[in-house]
Amino acid sequence: MAGRQRWSSRMIFLFAAIGSAVGLGNVWRFPYLTYKYGGGAFLIPYLIALLVLGIPLLIMEFAIGQRLQKGAVEAFKGVHSKLGGIGFAAVFSGFVVVVYYSAVMAWSLVYLIKSFAFKLPWAENAEGFFYNNVLNISDGIGNIGGFSWMLFFALLAVWVMVYFCVWKGTKSVGKVVMITMPLPIILLIVLFIRGVTLPGALTGIMYYIKPNFGALLDTEVWLAAVSQIFFTLSLAFGIMIAYASYNKETSDITKNSYLTAITNSGISLFAGFVVFSVLGYMAHAQGVGVADVVTSGPGLAFVAFPQALSLMPLAGLFSVLFFVTLLSLGIDSAFSLVEAVNSTFLDKSSKVGTKKVAFYVCLVAFILGIIFTSGAGLYFLDVFDHFVTNFGLVLVGIFEAIAIGWIFGAEKLRSYINSVSDWKVGKWWTYAIKYVIPVLLSIFVITQFITEIKEGYGGYPGWALALGWLSVIIPLVIAIVWSIKPTKVEVNV
Ligand code: PHE
Repeated sequence: MAGRQRWSSRMIFLFAAIGSAVGLGNVWRFPYLTYKYGGGAFLIPYLIALLVLGIPLLIMEFAIGQRLQKGAVEAFKGVHSKLGGIGFAAVFSGFVVVVYYSAVMAWSLVYLIKSFAFKLPWAENAEGFFYNNVLNISDGIGNIGGFSWMLFFALLAVWVMVYFCVWKGTKSVGKVVMITMPLPIILLIVLFIRGVTLPGALTGIMYYIKPNFGALLDTEVWLAAVSQIFFTLSLAFGIMIAYASYNKETSDITKNSYLTAITNSGISLFAGFVVFSVLGYMAHAQGVGVADVVTSGPGLAFVAFPQALSLMPLAGLFSVLFFVTLLSLGIDSAFSLVEAVNSTFLDKSSKVGTKKVAFYVCLVAFILGIIFTSGAGLYFLDVFDHFVTNFGLVLVGIFEAIAIGWIFGAEKLRSYINSVSDWKVGKWWTYAIKYVIPVLLSIFVITQFITEIKEGYGGYPGWALALGWLSVIIPLVIAIVWSIKPTKVEVNV
């Protein structure tokens, strides 16, 4: 049997991990959360969540993957034969995410192509263009609406690209990330220079950073910081475990974790300057307040930003740059999710080739993604995104921390980490994994659950919320069944 796939250098591993972490979340979620939840003051809960949850969990995921030399499912089986389900739940959540994440990339692709038009087609009415022309949005999640060939082919194109990124495993991923990790950063710098030299930019930036410390008294702010940290560091998806499993067992862990986490947060912060300088410009150009133009998510990337771009000189050029930025930000996050799934299959059987596994995973994800190209696509996306990021990931995080803290032994893993790393982790890490993280995340889940029961979500009908819940409950049930079914052999490491 051929040995395990390997990254060709430590730098490539770092590029891949950073490429996965730095994605749409850095550009369309972080700046908005910061603005909404206290401006500069939001950095306090954000940094606390990063230090208390993000970095310890990232160190843990890198360490498990590297120590056990397996993707998430087999790695947790290695921790205990009954715990494979935790890995499964992680990979399942990741798969749900990549199915809709790729739809967003398909929209970006459509916008990129349309940016080459002589006159930007959204110049007159950016909102109408996005909702009617691109999405052909229906009047509610219960109405599937029309089907769009344009989005269908864009989605297909995205999946063809993703396939060719992962088809040779670490070999192809290693080559692609050399471009897709640095490219969006360079483009963000270009957009930053353009942004800050526009009139109104400073006002926009002030909105972004002006601290409102009163916001810190609101629990919602802290919850937002926690879920952002999970999403942005690609934690609890099995990705970081799979990626680290392609390292040699003796590779450094702590330095890689800090580098990944710090670069990722630095880029988030920087992206906020880009977004808010451009929004400030738009508010200025339209003679309205910045508060009237800020949004997040699709509304930011596909309505507000394109509209602002259309007002600039060289609008077409900057639109092209912006949508290439989105695509290059997204693609390495998307294929990292696919890679987490692929590694699961390849760990199981090394006889099926990498290409074949990659092909079927991409094909199934593409087919499932077709729902997001329908008129109700945006609503479905919103529902799944809400449930996976607010419940799925956090639950997986709790189980991971308990499994490692109490069953594998946090101290045992810590001594392994310290034996291979230049920077040592202190005892604090063990306390974080065993006590602090499970307790904090449990409080998080309970609080979210109560809000959910009281308020529902987004005014969606019960069956739609039930679908969202299913995306959380199915992997949990499988994980539980997995742990209670009798097993024959005990794998010990
Ligand atoms: N970390 C990526 C971002 O911030 C998103 C992502 C989520 C990537 C899940 C992989 C897995 O956009």
